[in-house]
Amino acid sequence: MLGSPSEALATPAVVVDLDVLERNIQRMAARAREAGVGLRPHAKTHKSPAIASLQRSAGARGLSLAKVGEAEVFADAGFDDVFLAYPTVGEDKARRLLALSDRVRLAVGVDSLDGARSLAEPFRAAGRTLDVMLKVDVGYGRVGVLPERAAALAAEVAALAGLRMRGVFTHAGHGYLAESKDGVDAIARLEGERLVETAARLREAGLPQDEVSVGSTPTAAVAMRVAGVTECRPGNYVFHDASQVALGTCSVEDCALTIIATVISVPAADRAVVDAGSKTLSSDPLRPRSRGYGSILGRESYLDKLSEEHGVIAVAKGESFRVGERVRILPNHACVVANLHDQLVGVSQGKVETVLRVAARGRVR
Ligand SMILES: Cc1ncc(COP(=O)(O)O)c(C=O)c1O
Repeated sequence: MLGSPSEALATPAVVVDLDVLERNIQRMAARAREAGVGLRPHAKTHKSPAIASLQRSAGARGLSLAKVGEAEVFADAGFDDVFLAYPTVGEDKARRLLALSDRVRLAVGVDSLDGARSLAEPFRAAGRTLDVMLKVDVGYGRVGVLPERAAALAAEVAALAGLRMRGVFTHAGHGYLAESKDGVDAIARLEGERLVETAARLREAGLPQDEVSVGSTPTAAVAMRVAGVTECRPGNYVFHDASQVALGTCSVEDCALTIIATVISVPAADRAVVDAGSKTLSSDPLRPRSRGYGSILGRESYLDKLSEEHGVIAVAKGESFRVGERVRILPNHACVVANLHDQLVGVSQGKVETVLRVAARGRVR
């Protein structure tokens, strides 16, 4: 496959434009350098040590991940500084973290005393210490302690033998629902400000905070510039996708990951069907406003319906498709697409240059 043109790839093929990938990585690294914050990209987006290596070479201080299983894969690949930006709970997980902590500088997220206790015990018993970061909810309404309750919880967590508080973190996922770029930027400012204020309250309560960590791709550029923020954790920016374009984060030219598919049926003038369905593209909606399951690059037509192996294109007025034609799909959400595939095809100037293994794919435990 190496050296062959991308037009020769068997479809559906998930293709990463290596030049766009590198440009995205360099841009975010430069932004973080200029803002004076550490960059800790979320590698759940690609789950690929090869891409994480590019991020590290561009200056990333370490990786963010969600699950212990992902951390194990990246540790095996030689990554030695990992933050699990996820409320990690359970003694079984803590025992695996204890083993990992022999070879990796680790921190994990906590947002409850019960969760923190379940992590503390194996570390206390081994005479070791695990760094934890308190997850703060700045408005997303998913996980995290509310800012006004953070100091009380942090004091209880910090008192547990076996744990050390490294800092606070948040993820403004509600930025994905903002109706305009100004709306995203307003959420980003609040993301930074609320977290910095929370860290200040914790310090006033006698709880030192080394890290104040924000991050999502739409909010990164603004949130990382809020004074007092020390670290940023964007993930999706390496690929971008149709949702980032709709949110105003980037342009179509900044999207590195696309799917090449073949038209397998044109049963009516207003309908064409490709060989990529939900098992290739996922069923994630476009954000902030839902519209189908992927854009067809260079056309107004888009994927209107999916079944497992069929993607149904609603053919726009004045456009047409023919059986056997290849199309390029920009997915709604690149992170879930990567996790559906064993490998991504790395392409430069239209030629296959490498195959990127999605090594931590499916590591959800
Ligand atoms: C806790 C946390 N941090 C960082 C990120 C990265 O955000 P994005 O994918 O928007 O770059 C995510 C994404 O889900 C997340 O859940």
